[in-house]
Amino acid sequence: MLGSDAVARGVAVSVRGLQHEYGRGRHAVPVLRGLDFDIEAGSHVALQGPSGAGKSTLLSLLGGLEPIREGEIWIGETRLRGLRRGELAEYRSRVIGFVFQHFGLLDVLTARENVMLALSLAGIPLQQRMRRADEILDDVGLTDRAGHRPQQLSGGEQQRVAIARALSSRPHLLLADEPTGNLDEESAERVLDVLERLRVDNGCTLVVVTHNPMVAARATHRLHLREGRLAPELVGEPA
Ligand SMILES: Nc1ncnc2c1ncn2[C@@H]1O[C@H](COP(=O)(O)OP(=O)(O)O)[C@@H](O)[C@H]1O
Ligand SMILES: [Mg+2]
Repeated sequence: MLGSDAVARGVAVSVRGLQHEYGRGRHAVPVLRGLDFDIEAGSHVALQGPSGAGKSTLLSLLGGLEPIREGEIWIGETRLRGLRRGELAEYRSRVIGFVFQHFGLLDVLTARENVMLALSLAGIPLQQRMRRADEILDDVGLTDRAGHRPQQLSGGEQQRVAIARALSSRPHLLLADEPTGNLDEESAERVLDVLERLRVDNGCTLVVVTHNPMVAARATHRLHLREGRLAPELVGEPA
């Protein structure tokens, strides 16, 4: 059960008439073909569907990383298309956590520094940044890797650093693209426990792309994308 504070802090997501294509004119590739759905504040949505269905594109649009061409996305009270570029960047660092499929870690920084960088963008003072980075690295089981650089870490360890970075600013909406794709079962469970704690304790809304039935089973809702459309029988169906 979510406490009322937690629910108040989580954000609901509304998507209306969302279409997306890459390229223009003759070269345009339609990817999302008209999506309408709502996500309840504080829920955990598993976003599923075959490769090429548009899952990563949808996450990029929800996170304000890809400009919306057609349709609307509301994150809580905020209409994404209504934000100017600078406002969007500020909004993203304050509200949204992103775990990319390809990690997006900076090679020259250690694991701890990668996490601390995200916190400095969020305006957290140095001492607090170090403490929080170490806490969150501990949560994902990487205490003894905090001083390592990405190329000194395995794929699974890099993935956990990317997750720690996304969680560090305590986002209201966490968007994760196959966050357990490179993890063994034990590390995957551990990461899912951390995500679940963020949801229950902080009311964070989670949208997690996954191919893994074990991961999807832990969601409260599922969205199934196929060829740029939601499979209607599965929209919002509780897990
Ligand atoms: N930046 C891009 N430019 C052109 N086409 C892209 C780009 N990103 C994705 N696509 C195409 O859009 C389609 C959906 O991709 P994506 O959203 O990554 O799907 P999924 O994450 O479900 O595998 C694919 O056909 C892909 O090739
Ligand atoms: Mg993808």
